[in-house]
Amino acid sequence: MRTATSSAVPIAPGIGPLPLTDREFSLFQALVEQEAGIHLGPTKQALLVGRLSRRVRAMGLPSFGSYYRLVSSRGNEAERIRMLDCLCTNETHFFREPEHFNFLRQRVFPEWTRRAAQGLMERRVRVWSAGCSTGEEPYSLAMALLSHFPPDSGWDVEVLATDLSTWALERARQGLWPLEKAASIPSPLLRAFMLKGVRSQEGLMKAGPELRSVLRFARVNLNDERGWPPGPFELVFCRNVLIYFGAESRAQALSGLLHRLQPTGYLFLGHAESLTGSAETARCVAPNIYRARGDLT
Ligand SMILES: C[S@@+](CC[C@H](N)C(=O)[O-])C[C@H]1O[C@@H](n2cnc3c(N)ncnc32)[C@H](O)[C@@H]1O
Repeated sequence: MRTATSSAVPIAPGIGPLPLTDREFSLFQALVEQEAGIHLGPTKQALLVGRLSRRVRAMGLPSFGSYYRLVSSRGNEAERIRMLDCLCTNETHFFREPEHFNFLRQRVFPEWTRRAAQGLMERRVRVWSAGCSTGEEPYSLAMALLSHFPPDSGWDVEVLATDLSTWALERARQGLWPLEKAASIPSPLLRAFMLKGVRSQEGLMKAGPELRSVLRFARVNLNDERGWPPGPFELVFCRNVLIYFGAESRAQALSGLLHRLQPTGYLFLGHAESLTGSAETARCVAPNIYRARGDLT
C-alpha cells in the first residue's frame, strides 16, 4: 500500500504509475524550473507521476530516482527535451480568445493601413506566436492577417511559430488537425485557407499553401533568452504559456518579449495573465493586450 512519502504505488510490476518520493519530486521541480521556467507546485506530484511513469518504464529504469540521475546528467540534453515534451500542457484551439482577433481586425489592421499610407511604417509585418503548441494559434493569426492583407496587397507577412515541445512543434509544422478542430474557425476563413484531407488524410483538415507560405517554425525556450529570435515584431502572442512559469522566470520572459516589440507593437497574453508584478511599464490597451513603449504616431 501507499507509503507516507510516496505519491503513487505500482498497480502491478510493469504497469501503472511508479512511486515518487517527496525528495525526488523536489529534485524534478528544481530541474524543470531551471530548464523550462515551469513551476510545478506541490499539487503537481500526481501530474508528474502520470506523465513520466511510462517514459521511465520505456527507458527500462526501475524508479524515478534512477530516471532523475539520467535526465539531470551532463550531456543528456536529448532526454531532458523528451522529459519536457511529456510535461508540457499543449491545450489550444483555433481563434482561442476571439476578442483578441476582433481587436486585430477592428483596431490593429486599420491602424497599420493608415500608418503605411502616411509613410510611417513599411508594408511588412512580423508576428511571433511564442508557445504555439500544435499550431492553432499561429495558423489563426496567419488566417486573420492574410484575409486582411492578401499576398497581392503589397503587404509582406510572416508568422514565426515557436515552442519548447518538439512533439507539439512537429504537429504544428505538419499543419494537419482532426476535422472537428474546424468548428472554431469562422466559415469564410475556413473556406479560404483550409483543405479537407482525402485518402490517407481522410477525417483531417490541412493548412492550405497560402498559410504555409507565411509560417516559420523553430524550437525556442522562453526560459533561455540566448536562443530567442531577435525581432522586432509588430505582434507577439504569448498566451497561456507564462501562467505555468515561476514568478522570476515569468518576469524575465515578459521583459524579453516586450523588448522584442516594435515601439508601436502589441503583446497579447492569455485571459488569466497580466504584467502585474513585472517591472515593465507597458500600457494595457484592452484586456490582456499591452502596447510596447511608444505612443502612436
Ligand atoms: C497551453 S499551451 C498554449 C498554446 C497557445 N499559445 C494558446 O494559447 O492556445 C502552452 C504551450 O507553452 C509551451 N511551453 C511551456 N514552457 C515553455 C517554454 N519554456 N518555452 C517555450 N514554450 C513553452 C508548451 O509546450 C505548450 O505548447
